[in-house]
This record gives sequence, C-alpha cells and structure tokens, in this order.
Amino acid sequence: MSIDDLKRAAAEKAAHHVQPGMKLGLGSGSTAKHAIDVIGERFQKGELAGIQAVATSNASDAQARALGIPMMPFEGGLDLAIDGMDELTPQLDAIKGLGGALTREKIVEARADLLILIADDSKKVTTLGEKSPLPIEVIPLAEAVVTRELEQLGATVSLRTHDDAPFITDNHNIILDCRWQTWQPHDLAPIITAIPGVVEHGLFLGMAKLAYLASEDSVIELEPREAWS
Ligand code: A5P
Repeated sequence: MSIDDLKRAAAEKAAHHVQPGMKLGLGSGSTAKHAIDVIGERFQKGELAGIQAVATSNASDAQARALGIPMMPFEGGLDLAIDGMDELTPQLDAIKGLGGALTREKIVEARADLLILIADDSKKVTTLGEKSPLPIEVIPLAEAVVTRELEQLGATVSLRTHDDAPFITDNHNIILDCRWQTWQPHDLAPIITAIPGVVEHGLFLGMAKLAYLASEDSVIELEPREAWS
C-alpha cells in the first residue's frame, strides 16, 4: 500500500461519519483532500442530501465546489470537521499547518461539535515537536519583531519559503516555522497567541475527540488516551 492509499483509508473512515443534513468543515492538505473526495462521491450518489460545507483553504473550497458539494457562508455551528495533521499525540493533541492553512483550520474546526483528525500512522508522536516544526502565521509587517520575540522564547525560527520567495498564505500572511529544544506546548500556546503580529499558531490542543490512523495492517480509531499502546 502506498502512503496515499493509507491516507485514503483513514479518510474513508472519517467521511462515513457524515450524515444527511450535516454542516461540515472541510480540512486542507493531501489527506483531507481524500475525505472531500469521499464526501463528494457520497453526495453524488444521493447519500448526503442537505449537507452544507465550509472549507479551510482556497484549494479545498475549489475541490468541494468542483465535486458539487453545497458550500455555505461560515457562521459557526458545524456538526463535524475532518482534517489531516502533521503530528498527533495519544491525547490527540496535534501540530497542523505544514500546508499553510492553519488559521482557517483553527477558525473553522474550533466551531465544530466533532473534529476528526486523519492520517497515515507516520504522524504519530509521543510529544509534539518530535518531527514537525510549529508553523506560526504572522502579519508580514511584523516578521522581524515576532521573529525576535519568538527567539526570546527559545525558538529557532525559520521563514517558510516557496520558489525562493516567502510562502504566502491564503490570508496574505507569512509563516514562521519554529522549533524548540525543549518546550511545554500547553504553556507556550497562549503566550504565542498574545504576541502582537501573530495571527495563529498550529497547536491544536484538546480539539480533536476522534482520529483515524492508517497503517499497512488496519485503520485504528482513536479517542484521547494516556499513551500509545
Ligand atoms: C494544512 O495547513 C495542514 O494543517 C494539513 O492539515 C496538514 O499539514 C496535513 O497535511 P497532509 O495531509 O498533506 O499531510
């Protein structure tokens, strides 16, 4: 099985939580793309009458519209959101944003009754930051000062680039990818949020109540727990 097959397998499990009439949050990235495909297929078969969705990126919005999924203005009150992640702990805390959509993902997914995270099982970590940097979306004007203030918090800060130019988000901002030698994400999250010029960070703590992780053997369903078994 390819990694892409594993992503599809996890996405299928999550997409089968969608019921007719639900208001949905559609995630972003290569795994969420599979979930949107499955929701689109189910909608086209007539299984999901009355669903309405809001997307977390321009790319996901375009994909959903192309599949005929009815889109709605975002007013909160979502039944379900489904998205990928970059790292996932046993407590279902996550780092998100390597695709750059973290701000809209946070805005939308915080307003869903249930957030389901999906991935292949390479995203499993014991503590956040083992593999992934923490993406932080920043107003371009504030790049130098926010970089300095994050460094004062112990971070190694790297401006994300694309084609030798700063990567620009759907919200016209930049991303600073940050790593700490040692850190306490739960303590740092509100401190980062409070830095003027920071739009949002990619720590999704306590938000997901369900996850599907796909391996070669199976797709496991996870609720928050103490440790990986
Ligand atoms: C988008 O900004 C991200 O938060 C994605 O959800 C995350 O990077 C996972 O992406 P993949 O499914 O492509 O690994």
